[in-house]
Amino acid sequence: MKGVVLAGGLGTRLRPLTSITNKHLLPVYDRPMIFYPIQQLAAAGIEDVMLVTGGNSAGDFLRLLGDGSSFGLNSLNYAYQEREGGIAEAIGLTRAFVGSDRFVVILGDNILEDPLGPFVEAFRAQESGARILLKEVDNPSDYGVAELNGDMVVSIVEKPEHPASPYAVIGVYMYDSYAFDVIRGLEPSARGELEVTDLNNAYLQRGELQADILSGWWADSGCSIDGLLEAGIRARQISREIRV
Ligand code: G1P
Repeated sequence: MKGVVLAGGLGTRLRPLTSITNKHLLPVYDRPMIFYPIQQLAAAGIEDVMLVTGGNSAGDFLRLLGDGSSFGLNSLNYAYQEREGGIAEAIGLTRAFVGSDRFVVILGDNILEDPLGPFVEAFRAQESGARILLKEVDNPSDYGVAELNGDMVVSIVEKPEHPASPYAVIGVYMYDSYAFDVIRGLEPSARGELEVTDLNNAYLQRGELQADILSGWWADSGCSIDGLLEAGIRARQISREIRV
């Protein structure tokens, strides 16, 4: 199982904090935001990770993260996304790294309380296909929204005006290598990006998209200044609980 962390984008929603740096390098409590997803993957036993970055300060990730050994990784690899092409385009850049393996993608600004390990195990037990994580939220219209039948996903709509459920699709996605065939055939959306929701919907149409619902908190720390602050407060709480 390979790991992929997406850390590109211009972070426009966090300006001026991101005017000269990449949002994933901003502090969330006591460490840079990007540490959280990498530590999650490492704790789930994933040893080979590729970080996809772009935009401001791309070179700073190398200085900060190095070869990944300080996180216990076997290898940390880097890819560069030239433009704002979307999450699915960024995933497509990891094709040679992933090969015929399966992989777990995590958006670099997503911070989860629940460990990823059990979800990754559930994905390993799946014969093929994809698996996504959901979180019940008060504002589903801000996210991709999934409708479920048991643990099978039956629909996902990106930022719907009238959400069919309270379940937001969070930024953790698990795929087999079929994902790369799908991405090659995707067309840019109205915002000019290759959408991860279109990739997920391709699996859904084959009846191969399963989901788990998170019980712990989830922070989309790069979505807004308030989201960043909230993530820092939550992270402090957890680190206190661990210390006691
Ligand atoms: C993206 C996805 C959306 C998902 C969200 C989670 O949205 O398109 O489906 O719910 O990440 O953070 P974006 O942040 O690109 O608007």
